[in-house]
Amino acid sequence: MNSIPPIDLTRQYFRFGPEMETATADVLRSGRYIGGAAVDAFEQQFATYLGVSNCVACHSGTDALYLVMRALNLGPGDEVITTAFSFIATSEAIALVGAKPVFVDIDCSTFNLDAEQVAGAITERTKAILPVHLFGQPADMGTLGEIAAHNSLYVIEDCAQATGASWQNRKVGSFGQAGCFSFFPTKNLGGCGDGGAVTTNDADLAAAIRQLKNHGSSQRYRHEATGINSRLDGLQAAILSVKLPYLDDWNRERQEIAARYQTLLAPSQLKLPQATPGGISVWNQYTVLFDTETAAARDRLQEKLQHSGIGTMVYYPIPLHRQPVYHNLGYQDGDLPQAEKAARQVLSLPMFPGLTPEEQEQIACTLKDCLAAIAD
Ligand SMILES: Cc1ncc(COP(=O)(O)O)c(C=O)c1O
Repeated sequence: MNSIPPIDLTRQYFRFGPEMETATADVLRSGRYIGGAAVDAFEQQFATYLGVSNCVACHSGTDALYLVMRALNLGPGDEVITTAFSFIATSEAIALVGAKPVFVDIDCSTFNLDAEQVAGAITERTKAILPVHLFGQPADMGTLGEIAAHNSLYVIEDCAQATGASWQNRKVGSFGQAGCFSFFPTKNLGGCGDGGAVTTNDADLAAAIRQLKNHGSSQRYRHEATGINSRLDGLQAAILSVKLPYLDDWNRERQEIAARYQTLLAPSQLKLPQATPGGISVWNQYTVLFDTETAAARDRLQEKLQHSGIGTMVYYPIPLHRQPVYHNLGYQDGDLPQAEKAARQVLSLPMFPGLTPEEQEQIACTLKDCLAAIAD
């Protein structure tokens, strides 16, 4: 039997490679490698896709988050409420502007911020809520939006893992002051290198971000703020423009894969992911919980699967509030129990467009065998 990796980007490439090669050759021949028509066209196309009025492309999802917080003037003395269960870039961007990340626990059935707990974390220093649409699953934007409006807080959406996901028929990245996207190759819309974008309906915010990402400059060699160099290059923009029209089809394929897992794996000892009511997930990851008291048992299951040819990932083994870099914030084990439970129990199964039903059957069968072997 063939082994199955957690993600295989070559399958996507072999379906659309020639189109991408033509588009990149056009950029190579144009001589415009930074900025230029390819980047302008992609920004327009992506804004239209999401139904927002502005898109500012940048170097990465991390930069997108950082640039939004800089443009909103968040900094020392400010607090930003976010989830305790995400990739480090989410809270890193908060810390990079000098603000304090305030971590709130998650709902383990969706892996997203537990919106009901957000209100309790608000202080007079709170300036923003930063929900993450983790694993492709939209956060509860209704409750979060109400809390933000009631307390005059910004909402900054981390959409890195959820390009194309929607909540109440609206695409994520169109709810808050800004949406932050990553085009890292494994994302739902991935380039062939780093890339990111900010989306917003606020033209002034878009202009401020455009200036900050260009060394604080709107006019050549005149600098009005301390900015950074954060560009999406023309080759990536050309590749993303080729891929974007296929994104909805790939996301539908991911939804079919998730539905098939749901059927193949139930019932089992695994807790399967649930959809957020009102939300449509685009399944960047299909992540199950292995009901165990120790991460070591989950790691054993992962090793057994690996030996049997099934690649899986642990996103994420340490919740953000327990990362060494945040020891100074004073969180202890047990403070955010659901995020800690997720870190102990999560296992992300192979998920990528092109994964076949036969492969999924092989994964489900092997998984059941490995679970039985561990129980013995
Ligand atoms: C939830 C989340 N936020 C932000 C980022 C940062 O994106 P990038 O890798 O493009 O900087 C990632 C990337 O993995 C992510 O998963």
